[in-house]
Amino acid sequence: MILVIDFGSQVAHLISRRINDLGAKTKIILPEEALAEIKKDKPQGIILSGGPDSVYQKGAPTIDKSIFASKIPILGICYGLQLMMYLMGGKVVSGKKEYGPATLRIKNHQSRILNKIPKISTVWVSHGDEVIRLASGFKIIGSTEKVPASFVENSVKKIFGVQFHPEVEHTEIGKQVLENFINICGAKKEIKKIDIDQIVSSIRTQVGKDYVIGAVSGGVDSTVAAALMAKALEKQFIPIYVDNGLMRYDTKEHLAKFFKHTGIKVRVINVQQEALKKLEGAIDPERKRKIIGKLYIDIFEREMEKIIKTGKNVKYLMQGTIYSDVIESKGTRNAAKIKSHHNVGGLPKNMRLQLIEPVRNFYKDEVRKIGKLLKLPDAFVYKQPFPGPGYAVRIRGEVTSKRLNQEKQADKIVMEELRKAGWLKKVFISFPVMTGAFSTAVKGDGRFFEEVVALRVIESKDIMSTVWSHLPYDLLQTISSRIVNEVPGVSRVVYDITTKPPATMEWE
Ligand code: XMP
Repeated sequence: MILVIDFGSQVAHLISRRINDLGAKTKIILPEEALAEIKKDKPQGIILSGGPDSVYQKGAPTIDKSIFASKIPILGICYGLQLMMYLMGGKVVSGKKEYGPATLRIKNHQSRILNKIPKISTVWVSHGDEVIRLASGFKIIGSTEKVPASFVENSVKKIFGVQFHPEVEHTEIGKQVLENFINICGAKKEIKKIDIDQIVSSIRTQVGKDYVIGAVSGGVDSTVAAALMAKALEKQFIPIYVDNGLMRYDTKEHLAKFFKHTGIKVRVINVQQEALKKLEGAIDPERKRKIIGKLYIDIFEREMEKIIKTGKNVKYLMQGTIYSDVIESKGTRNAAKIKSHHNVGGLPKNMRLQLIEPVRNFYKDEVRKIGKLLKLPDAFVYKQPFPGPGYAVRIRGEVTSKRLNQEKQADKIVMEELRKAGWLKKVFISFPVMTGAFSTAVKGDGRFFEEVVALRVIESKDIMSTVWSHLPYDLLQTISSRIVNEVPGVSRVVYDITTKPPATMEWE
């Protein structure tokens, strides 16, 4: 087993998952638990994760130095590397910042950690601090253009450090580095399986004879979660779609098709006007999330009362929360809060229903795998992700009925054109943003000062890193022409060419 010590990384769970995918077992623990866990579990390897802090700052998470003398192979990633160097006598400073892709050059050097690693490759980085002096016994085995100590090792102690992120899919050598580390640790390899029967039977055990109402949004996560609930509970599961008008334009039809497929009836509750009224004057995205989250829970509680009055004991609320939602809402203790996903961080504290989240521990691609194992048609399994607060976070500033209509119209055009050109299957997510910026346009003989729409089309598997899609110019031209011609009040369209990190997928 390999211990993953979590220093508050956005991706500690992803590191663990990559190791599992390569066949080795893992356990994620907090830094202060390390010594006791090492004694108890006798791990074959230790990974120190990244984290948002600076090792030299007061209160930064740290670890007992004696683990470096434990003779267990160790791999430090980003903050993990910096902490190792810092504790063993090296020097870490606020250094050259690197975010997104970088080129790693490997030195001429023999090492098991470098097995099958090419001399030059693209790695993904996200850091502001840098190791400028190594601890004794270490040497540099790879550098990026900006950062010399990008890949280091102490071959005698079998301690390694990387300033890049081997766990994200866009780091070309990431999987190989982790596999080499597992081999050095001598950890046993077994291929992990997703066990549908086990998930279904644990839902049955938890729920017993009670009823569950399910929040369904049409997205892959809540659809797969609903399919698991339907399989486990049949009529004890009551799906509800709160139509707040902020979900993707085709959601109602999509849901009708899905529930026809499962044989369960979905209740649709229209609160479109109520949502717009409550969002009046809300500009701060976190406020919008909270308003939407609160409305959503209020509606559920109201529906629950109605259903209970019919004699059914509703005790649970099902949500399609997945693991990346949990992490980005500070699900692990040291992780920096990026934003409250409305289905996690934004929930009111006094909610009366207990949550049941059957896909909470899975990443998006694993959720899709579960959908395939449940034999759901591709239209449900490969639907684009859509944020819980929906169009409200794709309209910067106030959400008015006019801007919501503009966003919906533009969104429809983007989807139609990507589909027509055969690109929809290739992209992870695609959408226009009402930017809140205004610019001049001349249409006919008139001069107008109208809103700028930004187009974001990106590719990703694990959500943690993304690249923008290299769409053909002709397709970009068609989308742009259609939006400025067909959507009233739009002056121009710009294409967002920023990777994640540093930019998130959504704009708010
Ligand atoms: P970001 O913008 O964080 O997006 O790179 C990662 C994924 O999460 C979705 N997303 C959200 N989902 N509430 C949600 O339920 C939110 O506030 C939210 N913000 C982003 C986003 O669409 C993408 O799939």
